Amino acid sequence: MWSGRFREPLDARFEEWQRSFGFDWRLLPQEIAASKAHASVLAAAGILTPTESAQVRNGLDAMLKDCWDSARRSSLASDSRAEDVHHFVELELTAHIGELALKLHTGRSRNEQIATDLRLYVREHAAKAQELLRNWALALVERAEAAGDAIMPAYTHLQRAEPVLLAHWLLAYVSMIERDISRLADLTTRLNYCPLGSGAIAGATLALDRTIASRELGFTAPTANSMDATSDRDFLVEFLQALATIALHTSRFAEEITLFATAEFGFITLPESFSTGSSAMPQKMNPDLTELVRGRTGRIQGAVTAVTMQLKGLPLAYNKDLQEMQLPLFESVEGLLAILELLSPFTNKLGFRLQTMENAAESGFLNAMAAATYLSHRGVPFRRAHHIIGEAVRLSLDKGCELDGLTLEELRQFSPAFAEDFYSNITLAATVDCHDVIGGTARARVREALTRAKARLNSEVTSSMEVAGAHS
Ligand code: ARG
Repeated sequence: MWSGRFREPLDARFEEWQRSFGFDWRLLPQEIAASKAHASVLAAAGILTPTESAQVRNGLDAMLKDCWDSARRSSLASDSRAEDVHHFVELELTAHIGELALKLHTGRSRNEQIATDLRLYVREHAAKAQELLRNWALALVERAEAAGDAIMPAYTHLQRAEPVLLAHWLLAYVSMIERDISRLADLTTRLNYCPLGSGAIAGATLALDRTIASRELGFTAPTANSMDATSDRDFLVEFLQALATIALHTSRFAEEITLFATAEFGFITLPESFSTGSSAMPQKMNPDLTELVRGRTGRIQGAVTAVTMQLKGLPLAYNKDLQEMQLPLFESVEGLLAILELLSPFTNKLGFRLQTMENAAESGFLNAMAAATYLSHRGVPFRRAHHIIGEAVRLSLDKGCELDGLTLEELRQFSPAFAEDFYSNITLAATVDCHDVIGGTARARVREALTRAKARLNSEVTSSMEVAGAHS
């Protein structure tokens, strides 16, 4: 590829060590798409005849079939001939169409190629992640619909705080997922500019019409500056940060499921098909899925740190350091997409122990705030009401009952504002329903939130699919 000026052959150990084909083979479809687009550009510039351009493009298509859409894909990584994916395409294309293949490298550099391939790769995988996130969100929505008015305790400081609808808890994750989807859509818009034609650093040495390749590859426009285009990787940083945030969310979900599946909580039964046993303790069923999800989050956070440190202080423009960013990228993408693939079927199969959840929501004075609100509706300042209910809680603790176990006389010794309707205002249903605000857990509000979330998720798919379809 570049041996003309060298007298000495490469040290075999160094040669092996600096190769990237062992991991960048994953970029083969992107490299082929970008090469086809470059052939169109060369044809428009009169460097390839229309027949030659067609031959090159057909050869590239044939090569994709041959190497990617076949059993060969699984052994690509061990092909020891090529230095990197760009070199591999040149070798294979030569095998397919002969000498003509060597014309394809006219007016381009591997520096612009790798920048283009990576943008295409991120765009496709961001779209894939959006699709998987949407499926998971829909699985959560479905469980929320089926949960109806079932109630569970909600926690602050991991202490029982107030009752909420089970659906409300599930929808909290849907909100996180929706932001994750929008982050991916957002960064895709920003990265969607075509580096082809940027050359090695200063721009192509031929008068190429860059808009042709940009259009063919579904980019918004050619990039604005060749030095930036060949060395920018902040789209990778942004993408990995978005993946790391998704991983954070999955880890919170995983942790809650792990906790709720303990005998101590007993809110959830784990699906057997997604759990494992212990080789020592015959009774065990372990939440390996959620534990691995939690653990993998650390690896993805590590990838963000790795690429950030690789980019820090890097002088313009291309430096080989940039190649080092690929492994953390591939590992994170493959690691996270695998998690997202599993989360929908896992969510579908979770068993909710509704009675246990409801019982837990009914003890521990989870209606104390609703009780204080009852008093404030009767003109008692909330600070006073808070204190009065605190005293009522104290008495209940002494008596070994909940607030509704106190008689009206007992309550009235703390405040004359208590009346017979106090009891109907602190039932589980009333406690939930008094949170009657947008985003609150009142039954009607949650029903409304569910309908809205579903509608949004169904319209999001259209927008993210449009981005995904841009390159095909
Ligand atoms: N494999 C290289 C990478 O991923 C391709 C670009 C090589 N460019 C160069 N000037 N050596 O960064």
